[in-house]
Amino acid sequence: MPKHFTQNDFLLSETAVLPGNEVLELQAEAPSNIALVKYWGKKSGGVQLPMNASLSFTLSRSKTQTRARLTPLEKPAGQVSFDVRLDSRPRPDFAPKMARFFERITPYAPYIHFYRWEIDSHNSFPHGSGIASSASGFAAMARLVMQLGEQLGLACNGDFCVAKTSFLARLGSGSAARSVAEPVMLWGRDDNFPESSDLYAVRPAFDLHPSFDDVRDTIVLIDRGVKPVSSTRGHELIHQHPFRKARLETARKNLLALAGALQTGDWEAFGRVLEAEALMLHALMATSNPPYILMQPETLRLIRDLQDWRNRTGRPVYFTLDAGANVHLLYPAAEHQAVLDLLKNTLPELYAANQYIPDKVKSGID
Ligand code: PMV
Repeated sequence: MPKHFTQNDFLLSETAVLPGNEVLELQAEAPSNIALVKYWGKKSGGVQLPMNASLSFTLSRSKTQTRARLTPLEKPAGQVSFDVRLDSRPRPDFAPKMARFFERITPYAPYIHFYRWEIDSHNSFPHGSGIASSASGFAAMARLVMQLGEQLGLACNGDFCVAKTSFLARLGSGSAARSVAEPVMLWGRDDNFPESSDLYAVRPAFDLHPSFDDVRDTIVLIDRGVKPVSSTRGHELIHQHPFRKARLETARKNLLALAGALQTGDWEAFGRVLEAEALMLHALMATSNPPYILMQPETLRLIRDLQDWRNRTGRPVYFTLDAGANVHLLYPAAEHQAVLDLLKNTLPELYAANQYIPDKVKSGID
């Protein structure tokens, strides 16, 4: 039986750590991830617990780097004192989510209250590119909080450390739970995967087939605008959704099929499930009440061209979408030039303007 941690394992008493009296400068980074099986909907009655288990690839180039200057406080306040910047510019609009994160993690890291936090984040991907920075952003914050614990004398190692970092990140943003290790992460309890948990993400117990050793993800930046409907709202809408039950059953089947394809090296089966998941996510949006569409005309043009081209050439290149218009193209490294040629032909202006990120799945050795 794999070891499971409970919520109580992560709790810390307020007297477990003594405050330091020096100013600390910490920094941490965390990668973004792309869900292969999507997390869509939270369990009612819990805090950020997923309705279904999700599986993701961790990316290597799209990431958030965060620095924090921590000044000891004479008298810690009830709420964590902080300000937050992006690329050195104040972002008061980030404050409500950050305040909620600090509040939620307090029972597990009460020492965060000993300091005033001056936080400055930098994303490797262009701001407003439509790439969600909440996953990498909150995973980087969780790493900072764990680092502070270590500086104050809390030993942390091995699986517990990864699980607790994921647990804290989850309390900032669900998908952030998966941004703490690589190359594949599983978050959410599913009995087919005894190692899985709703509380934190884990590396699944199975091994990846060598044909998934060097996977590329070219992220095509189709929409730089702000999404008209947030993921938070999407997660809420699923509760009254007419297809809620079908979604849960399908996600479970897709997870099993996708995990199988990753182990046997079956790119075709992998691609079939990958694309079905992306389209189901967007179909759920289109059939929510109220319904909405996040895809753009270019999203569909690229999907249609990709599928035609694949039928003609047999190349193992498949798409997925997150909760936005951008397209992620996943394929073995050998297809890279062919993918760039496809992009150049299908969306020449976007290609000429360099509106894509040639990312790759993080393998642990890079
Ligand atoms: O972590 P959130 O609340 O931003 O939700 C992420 C939802 C999807 O990106 C659509 C799917 C996923 O599993 O990442």
